[in-house]
Amino acid sequence: MMQDWWKSAVVYQIYPRSFMDSDGDGIGDLRGIIGKLDYLQDLGIDVVWLSPVYDSPNDDNGYDIRDYRTIMEQFGTMEDFEQLLTQMHSRGLKLVMDLVVNHTSDEHPWFVQSRSSQDNPYRNYYFWRAGKNGHEPNNWLSYFSGSAWEYDSTTGEYYLHLFSRKQPDLNWDNPSVRQDVYDLMRFWLDKGIDGFRMDVINHISKVPGLPDGSHPNERGYAWGGDFFVNGPRVHEYLQEMNRQVLSHYNIMTVGETGGVSPADARLYAGFDRQELSMVFQFEHMGVDSGSGGKWDIKPWKLTDLKQVLSRWQQELHGVAWNSLYFGNHDQPRPVSRFGDDGAYRVESAKMLATCLMLQQGTPYIYQGEEIGMTNVAFPSIEDYRDVEILNFWRERVEQGGEDPEQVLHAIHVKGRDNARTPMQWSADDNAGFTTGKPWLEVNPNYREVNVAKAVADANSVYHYYQELIRLRRQYSSLVDARYDLILPDHEEIYAYTRSQAMEQWLVVCNFFAGQPEFILPAGISYEISELVLSNYPVTESAAVNQFTLRPYECRVYRMMRQA
Ligand code: GLC
Repeated sequence: MMQDWWKSAVVYQIYPRSFMDSDGDGIGDLRGIIGKLDYLQDLGIDVVWLSPVYDSPNDDNGYDIRDYRTIMEQFGTMEDFEQLLTQMHSRGLKLVMDLVVNHTSDEHPWFVQSRSSQDNPYRNYYFWRAGKNGHEPNNWLSYFSGSAWEYDSTTGEYYLHLFSRKQPDLNWDNPSVRQDVYDLMRFWLDKGIDGFRMDVINHISKVPGLPDGSHPNERGYAWGGDFFVNGPRVHEYLQEMNRQVLSHYNIMTVGETGGVSPADARLYAGFDRQELSMVFQFEHMGVDSGSGGKWDIKPWKLTDLKQVLSRWQQELHGVAWNSLYFGNHDQPRPVSRFGDDGAYRVESAKMLATCLMLQQGTPYIYQGEEIGMTNVAFPSIEDYRDVEILNFWRERVEQGGEDPEQVLHAIHVKGRDNARTPMQWSADDNAGFTTGKPWLEVNPNYREVNVAKAVADANSVYHYYQELIRLRRQYSSLVDARYDLILPDHEEIYAYTRSQAMEQWLVVCNFFAGQPEFILPAGISYEISELVLSNYPVTESAAVNQFTLRPYECRVYRMMRQA
């Protein structure tokens, strides 16, 4: 039996391009990360998940891989990578790599072969189809705007790309594709890495025939997710991967699985399933979107957020494992999205961390979250770099004639570059990230929000994260205890308990700037209670039953029932 070490671990995600630049070219790199290992160790995290560091033409910042066995030149060399791994291991830190195998770059040798002729042995590594009546083979939309098909004049056929046109989808129904993927996974696992985060892994099996999606838009395109999200053979493939590769190593795996329900997650990550350790679900990332998808912004309600997260807590308890996250390299900054990035930035960043990290599951901290980094609102589309943002702008403004101000506003609220501005290390030029010109401008608030300042300030978000991580380490009950939501209908307070044997945790979070009254529900009894953590000074003793919360205040009590 492999040990489930990842259940008590805290993961820190690094987006290498934006973390730390060691050579002044404006792009983060591996030596930059090596130089910050003290920082990561002091924070107290156990695992680093590295967004892709493989050779790539960077159409999607490394999520378009040209060579799975080579390090991206801008990031360094294989020697740098090996040094990073060795140094991490000698500090007791683990390293998880990003595995992007739903698609490759169009510059990957497999695709170069594949597109060269219809009878090339690699043709069937991808999805090639003839057009239909002068149109694409089906009506699927790409996640990055426009059709999911690109015409290729060499052979007069179209290839499928669910993401950018430089990210052709691999055909997992072809057994050679699967064996080649398993080989490259072994290549990294044999170097000693500690697991994989698997990019859009629930998209690898497509329904044969690739049927049209329903409800086409004005331009005739439709989301085809019914035919590739959690597709017909995905579990067969993951079980095969587990049998042939994963089960031979003591590693963790987390699948990025947009569009999964808790029932689906039990199939991907059920303790008895031999597939993945856990998945990233996206339901809570949808509470501020309307039916038009991510750019269709709507105000979010705390009751929705509570309902979603609680359902995941309940439905996975005892049978599968949750991942816990509010941010990553694709999402806006949590403190801007669910907290207050103005007057209560520090309080609300601490409150959000408390609410999330004391739930059951493995917490993920995205670089900068631990100092309360915020969204950015660049004045012009010229300031942006993300392919998703640029395609969205082209489609809506340049082709669609929509109001540029409105489109820019959506980008300010939801755009992925919010998370990708360089890590703010200090008040020095370019936030201490680079001595050159950063590939994406730093957030102008870096003189206020930065690591140097946070480390020097005992009341900072950073030191609060340290404490939360310490707490998780100190009390093993936080791994296994059952989660129960209390006050489900309260519109300002998110409160829950975690219970195991005689021990009960009470977590109370005020999500807004008001001052609501917390009243402990009658059913919860205890003999002793102790305030373990709060983001405000709390003087009154043993006031668990009833108290008034200050703006964005959170409190964590540990209570003991009498035997
Ligand atoms: C995942 C990644 C995202 C990337 C996409 C295509 O969603 O997190 O950054 O653009 O997959 O690889």
